[in-house]
Amino acid sequence: MRLALAAALLLALPAAAQDGRALFEQRCASCHAVAAGAEEMAGPNLHGVLGRRVGGDPGFDYSPALQAAGRAGERWDTARLIRFLDDPEEMYPGVWMGANGLPAAAERRAVVEFLRGGREGALPVAQP
Ligand code: HEC
Repeated sequence: MRLALAAALLLALPAAAQDGRALFEQRCASCHAVAAGAEEMAGPNLHGVLGRRVGGDPGFDYSPALQAAGRAGERWDTARLIRFLDDPEEMYPGVWMGANGLPAAAERRAVVEFLRGGREGALPVAQP
């Protein structure tokens, strides 16, 4: 009981407890640019991904799994993105991002918050 309460409190920690930008740089930026118009890397550009169609970067050649989801009309919102990052392969079998999600819920929330604000492309990640 007390343990469950402690776990609930931990999960309720605000996203600010984690630095979404730093997490993105460590865990995502090796494959994803986020600045507007930046060239695709191993993965699609994530600029403005919140609200965008799944598989919606016109400059990226997606797997059949993400193409099918986009054709089915799926869009990235906060809940979908958080679920995807929990286990990309489980959500979209055959996705090319495999095991590169974020198992910790607080980290997922922080990165999604960062991506939401990342629309202006302020992330100073060196492009190749
Ligand atoms: C090793 C490279 C790699 C890493 C690391 C990686 N990704 Fe990806 N990601 C990809 C690839 C490749 C795709 C395209 C997958 C496909 O087409 O099936 C993708 C797709 C995505 C998509 C779908 C985009 C769209 O346009 O529909 C999102 C969102 C995403 N990644 C977020 C992240 C986040 C957030 C992180 C960090 C926690 C991350 N990725 C880490 C390679 C990576």
